[in-house]
Amino acid sequence: MKIGLASDHRGFEFKDLIAGYLTKIGHETVDFGTKNGNDSVDYTDYGIQAAKSVGSGECERAILVCGTGLGMSLIANKVKGVRATVCHDLFTVEMSRRHNDANVLCLGADVVNHDLLEQKIKLFVETAFEGGRHARRVGKIMDAESG
Ligand code: RB5
Repeated sequence: MKIGLASDHRGFEFKDLIAGYLTKIGHETVDFGTKNGNDSVDYTDYGIQAAKSVGSGECERAILVCGTGLGMSLIANKVKGVRATVCHDLFTVEMSRRHNDANVLCLGADVVNHDLLEQKIKLFVETAFEGGRHARRVGKIMDAESG
């Protein structure tokens, strides 16, 4: 799977860890920045690029990291075709895929710990959408985009 990555300064270290893990388990990553380490930047500038890569189909999914995950989810959900969710634990990551067909995962580097990071990423890329009644609901979310 081709996965876009983006972070601000708060999420920079997580982004590198996530890129390394995804490569290790056989996925391709595209780094939309920040590439300025811990220098303060605006999460919007990087999150929008990764989200657009999902909206356009260039990337199948994206993972965005800021301090809380909140700002990244707000900007990502402005992009047509994006379903971004903020997940702070394994359960919400799993359900974001099974029930919401989330294609963008937003993490808060100041909220989640490193211990479960790889498990969260694995769940996000490997958990299938259940479809059925959830497809009807996701369809209604997508219908709401246009109007
Ligand atoms: C940056 O200080 C912080 O506001 C950002 O990382 C994020 O948490 C925004 O939602």
